[in-house]
Order: sequence, then C-alpha cells, then structure tokens
Amino acid sequence: MKAMSWRVGGRRTRTLVGRGLLGRPGLLARMLPGADRVAVVTDARCRRLFLPRLLRSLGRAPDLVHLLPRGERAKCGAELERLHRALLAGGFSRDSALVALGGGAVSDLCGFAAATFMRGVRWACAPTTLLAQIDAGLGGKTGVDLAGVKNAVGAFHQPEAVLCDPELLESLGPRELRAGHGELLKYALLFERRFPATSAVRPPRGAALERAVERCVRWKMSVVAQDERETRSRREVLNLGHTFGHGFEAAARGALRHGEAVLLGLRAAVRLSELEGLLPAPEARRLRGLLAALPCPRPRLRAAEVLRHMGADKKRRGGRLRFVLLRGPGRPVVAGARAANVARVLKEIL
Ligand code: GLY
Repeated sequence: MKAMSWRVGGRRTRTLVGRGLLGRPGLLARMLPGADRVAVVTDARCRRLFLPRLLRSLGRAPDLVHLLPRGERAKCGAELERLHRALLAGGFSRDSALVALGGGAVSDLCGFAAATFMRGVRWACAPTTLLAQIDAGLGGKTGVDLAGVKNAVGAFHQPEAVLCDPELLESLGPRELRAGHGELLKYALLFERRFPATSAVRPPRGAALERAVERCVRWKMSVVAQDERETRSRREVLNLGHTFGHGFEAAARGALRHGEAVLLGLRAAVRLSELEGLLPAPEARRLRGLLAALPCPRPRLRAAEVLRHMGADKKRRGGRLRFVLLRGPGRPVVAGARAANVARVLKEIL
C-alpha cells in the first residue's frame, strides 16, 4: 500500500492506494478521527458491491447510508437538498463527517454537500471507478450541474482522506475501464515527455493498474497542492481534452461516457495544437495515430451544438474560449485559439 500526503489550502489531505485496502479493519476510522456522526453517501450498486468492505474500514455502523440515483442524475440541486435534509433530520453537526462511496458523480455531490452543510464538514472518499480514483475523487472539486451546464455550481473542498483500492476496479466492465483510460492518457500526455513512456496505450490491468493509479494520484495532487483553486494556469492544464470533451459529452446526451468524451477531446486538442502552430506536424500525426487506435463510440454530433456547449466552459475569459494545448508531450500551454481552427477540428473529428 502507498500512503501519500499533501498540504492543500493549509489542510492535510491523504491518499492511500493499494489492493484490498478498503476492507482493512479500522483504516478509515483512523483517518477520520473524532467524528460524532458519519454518513455514507453511495448508490445502490456500490452499496451492494462495496459497502460491507467500507464498514469494516469504518469500524462502526454509519449513522446514515444515503442512496443517490446512479450516474450524472445524482448531480443536481434536488439531490443536494435531499441529502442536506437527511443530514439535518439525522442530527448531523459541524463535527460530523461524510464518506463518498462511488464514482465521480457520487464524490462530486457528496463533497459539495460536505462543503455546504453547516458551512463545511469533513469528508472522505472511496472512489470505485478508475476515473474517480485518478481524477474526480481527488483534488476537492465538488459540485452539481445546472441547466445542462456541468459543474455550474460548486466549491473547492478537499477530502481529508481518499482510499483508492484498485481491486474495486475488477467489477468494472470493459467500457467503463476504457472510459477511465481516457483520463489516464490525459495525464500521460501532460507529464510524460517520452509519451507513451510508463503508460500502456491499452488499459492496464493487475499490478500495472495499481501502479498507474498511484502515478496519476501523484501527478494530480502535486499540481493541486500548487494551485488548488485554479487561479494560475498550473491546475488548468489538468483540463487537457476537456474543453472539447465537455462539448462532446453534453451534445451526445448520454451516448458518451465522460472518459470517452475526454479521449475524443484529446484527439481534438492534439489537432488544434498542430493547427495553432504549437505542435510539429509529424509529432501531431504520431499522437493522433496512437489515440485514434483506441476504441471509442462515435455518436453523430452536430458541430454547432458541440460549440454551443463548449461556450459554457469555465476556462472562458473575457468571452473567449481557452484551451489546454501541447507543444509536445509533457509540455502543455493554456491559450486561446482561432475560431476557424476550432471549427476545422470539429469538422474533421465529427
Ligand atoms: N479534473 C480536473 C481537476 O480536478 O482540476
């Protein structure tokens, strides 16, 4: 098991990575000392598959097990209010703690409830998908969607502890693993100058998967520790592939998983980097070839609709879209781009 710790915004946040750690008796209890009440926030599938292990780790019966609907439907104001009401009714206080057991939608909603209940209570996270173990469950971005805009309302609120157990990923289907792999490739493109150096271009399994999770946690948290609130372009680079990706995901209306949309978004970002004169053409061709070899659904999307959704991107400044682009693997830059080049990328990709 690897135990890692960072100071973010003056507070300590710890992440453990290791096979089988979710079931270790008392582990989570030791990471959340002194909580007067504990609520586990999860969905029906994760409750069935993983709750008994989490309870061993918690070392006590939770005061509340709160079920959310599966997937993105959990991330709305109505579900946030339902959780807040359950906490109030259950006598939860400022000294209580929440534990998210699930994928990114569960940790986003639970983290935001923790950020806002009684002006902020402690929380911990046990991510159950690859995407959540390497991205969504780390770094304290929490929130809900509003009016079709992803994460339109939210807060930065660091979990005190994150338990990443790669054994949980064995229950994921190939599509879900592939979706998480899109985020894994994002990190590799951002941090590996000799891409693909450590990261397999195919989704890793077994011990390689555990090493990949640990590597991504280190990469992500070292950035978050320097720029928690994305006020400098340091944390912004973690959005490589996401400006296009959010547009693809929203326009696909459920036909693309987040990580699949990010994979398409990485292809788009590489091509845009080339058109903007940042990435030399032979390197761009090589990277696009590697990314295009990965299977990904291709729903029919309209460029105008993708562009409309991209317009809601939070990186926008002064009405102008900003993109994370590459001068090469391991060399990201945050920049604007010519509208004609963005339109050309969409025409080629869709
Ligand atoms: N998913 C990007 C970030 O946490 O900053």
